[in-house]
Amino acid sequence: MIKSLFVAAAFTVVAAAPAAAQMPAGNAAAGEKVFAQCKTCHVTDKGVNRVGPSLHGVVGRKSGSVPGFKYSAANQKSGVTWTAPVLFQYLEAPMKFMPGTKMAFAGLKKPQDRADVIAFLATKK
Ligand code: HEC
Repeated sequence: MIKSLFVAAAFTVVAAAPAAAQMPAGNAAAGEKVFAQCKTCHVTDKGVNRVGPSLHGVVGRKSGSVPGFKYSAANQKSGVTWTAPVLFQYLEAPMKFMPGTKMAFAGLKKPQDRADVIAFLATKK
């Protein structure tokens, strides 16, 4: 009895840890405020490129795929698909995740800010 309880508890911890530790649940309304930091360079309108490419539909999109935007070779050829977990890693330190990118942005250190801005971007499609 005691042994089986222990096993069940250990299993729960192992199963829950990776996903929970990586990305908290995001809030799109909070993410819109975080997005203010991206607005100097990005908009979410379809086909509108500024300093950075349009982020319309970016969640789930292949990197370097916005027509008419002149990407760096690093971004163009990264072979990355911008799923939520990939964005979560990238946005912490873009220039570390993708050496050679011309996105001059230090990153969002707070995991919650990243999860929120991703939730916001996911609504833009
Ligand atoms: C100083 C300007 C600047 C800021 C601020 C900035 N970006 Fe960028 N971003 C860029 C540029 C320029 C690129 C293109 C990078 C390249 O080609 O190497 C880019 C690329 C990206 C890409 C890859 C898009 C693709 O089509 O492959 C994502 C995703 C992205 N930015 C998200 C964000 C988010 C989210 C924020 C705010 C938290 C942000 N950026 C802030 C300039 C910026």
